[in-house]
Amino acid sequence: MKQFTSVKDVSHLPALVKEALELKRHPYNYKYLGENKVLGLIFMNPSLRTRLSTQRAGMNLGMNVIVMDINKDGWKLETREGVIMDGDAAEHVKDAVGVMGQYCDIIGVRTFPTFENRAEDYAENVINQFIKYAGVPIISLESSTLHPLQSFADLLTITEYKKTIKPKVVLTWAPHPKSLPQAVPNSFAEWMSTAEDVDLVITHPEGYELDEKFTWNARIEYNQNKAFEGAEFIYAKNWSSYHQYGQILSKDRSWTVSADKMKLTNDAYFMHCLPVRRNVVVNDDVIDSPNSLIIKQAANRLWSAQTILKKMLEG
Ligand code: CP
Repeated sequence: MKQFTSVKDVSHLPALVKEALELKRHPYNYKYLGENKVLGLIFMNPSLRTRLSTQRAGMNLGMNVIVMDINKDGWKLETREGVIMDGDAAEHVKDAVGVMGQYCDIIGVRTFPTFENRAEDYAENVINQFIKYAGVPIISLESSTLHPLQSFADLLTITEYKKTIKPKVVLTWAPHPKSLPQAVPNSFAEWMSTAEDVDLVITHPEGYELDEKFTWNARIEYNQNKAFEGAEFIYAKNWSSYHQYGQILSKDRSWTVSADKMKLTNDAYFMHCLPVRRNVVVNDDVIDSPNSLIIKQAANRLWSAQTILKKMLEG
């Protein structure tokens, strides 16, 4: 595997899931695979789970890990082609990435959307420059439009906890005070659609439709209560509007996931990628209930990362 930026980089998803669950049972079976190899983790945006889980994943495989927070430890990087660099960016991303590739055997990068221009964000200009100029395998630690390590961990969690062969999984929009990217819902929709053994329903207020290239296999239901009926998993997430790009169109608290709404489901598990705004996105009595999978889901971030690193080291 030379890059991991989307589910499209996975040749056979059921086999990858099986491999990850096997690795979870035997975390140190490959503890020498990454000996004398260096993993570089480059963060252009903050992180808790992705940073720690990917770092630990590299360590489990015997890798040395370098972490750089560009905003704290570096200077502003220019990402546009052909510009006169007389502004505040001190270095072009293509030069910086070319140098990083000299020190690292695998590079992970987190780069959020700017929300200035949808076409530019959805072109994935920054991560594509990493792929083009690093000369080593690249892992997305969440890009402008996708978060594949999260979605892979989500799929592992659903595989472990599902009670039926093809569970009804509901991705529900929930309110939030800030404008958030569409990366997690886009990616979740893409992975659940590719997994095939998932009945995916997406529910959100009008105006929050995602890019159809990610939701092609999902049913869209604008009535949240109706969507919840019979669900085995409720996956809550806020996102800003894709069509009115980056805008907050609603803060309607009636979309907050509550215990009453969970009663409409088939005793569903609750999922969220975290970080989460309690009592805005989801009420305490749901997220603290025995049906909440949030910590187990976060734990699976380690196995999604370790599996992808293993594939890259083997490749
Ligand atoms: N879910 C997730 O990616 O968490 P962090 O932003 O903390 O890495």
